[in-house]
Amino acid sequence: MQRLRPLLYYFFIAGTLFTGSAGAMLDEYAEPSVPAIVKNYKPLSPLELMLLTTLRDQNTDMALFSGTVRNLTPFLVQRVFQCLEMQDVIIQTPVAQSIGAELKNNIVLVTVLRSGDALLEGFRRYLPDAPVGKILVQRDEQTSEPNYLYRKVPKAFKNNKKIVILEPMIATGGSLSMVIEILLHNGVAQENIIVSSVVAAPEGLHKLAEKFPEISVTVLSIDEKLNEKMFIVPGLGDFGDRFYGTDDYDADSEDD
Ligand code: URA
Repeated sequence: MQRLRPLLYYFFIAGTLFTGSAGAMLDEYAEPSVPAIVKNYKPLSPLELMLLTTLRDQNTDMALFSGTVRNLTPFLVQRVFQCLEMQDVIIQTPVAQSIGAELKNNIVLVTVLRSGDALLEGFRRYLPDAPVGKILVQRDEQTSEPNYLYRKVPKAFKNNKKIVILEPMIATGGSLSMVIEILLHNGVAQENIIVSSVVAAPEGLHKLAEKFPEISVTVLSIDEKLNEKMFIVPGLGDFGDRFYGTDDYDADSEDD
């Protein structure tokens, strides 16, 4: 499979060029209903589509999966930056004075454990000064309800700062809703919350839009639906298990 992969990519990219649409081959953009909280949702570039295909492929092992997440994260960062306000800054190049741009607001990163941590390194590469909070919410196996278990967030994380929540998979939106509730409870305004995600189910997005209409969500792909086990279809399986190599564990019994 590994040796076949470059060949498959060749046909895949040739196919997308031929059809004139990067999304057409995998039907990534088959008219999903996009709630207003989702910002900058657009057809994937060929490179983004190739990387997402690798993540979706069940033959992708842990090493390739985690490496691909690393390669894909800059595209997530870019979508988040498109939600942020910039301001002009005057700098001196070695040659002349010039106008550039910098972020207007300070950023705080919040990861939803454990999958959210997979995106952290990539975000910190671009936002090295951003303090990092972590929140662990786990779904109860019996009731499927999310349980809040742990949080450590920077003290000064309100005051007009933009809070970027890292949560690669939005399925039912239950855990994410609980994380957002915790932030709101701590004085964060909805409009200062931006969620960065890889794949989302329409069910979860609509639930979030109903509960928190002022937040922003950025996501690479809105997939078709949830299955009866609350996995995203077609999705990519359990993100945390595939990233951390714990997929030999009973996949039905845990939630990320
Ligand atoms: N979390 C995952 O990792 N995958 C899903 O499909 C749903 C939730």
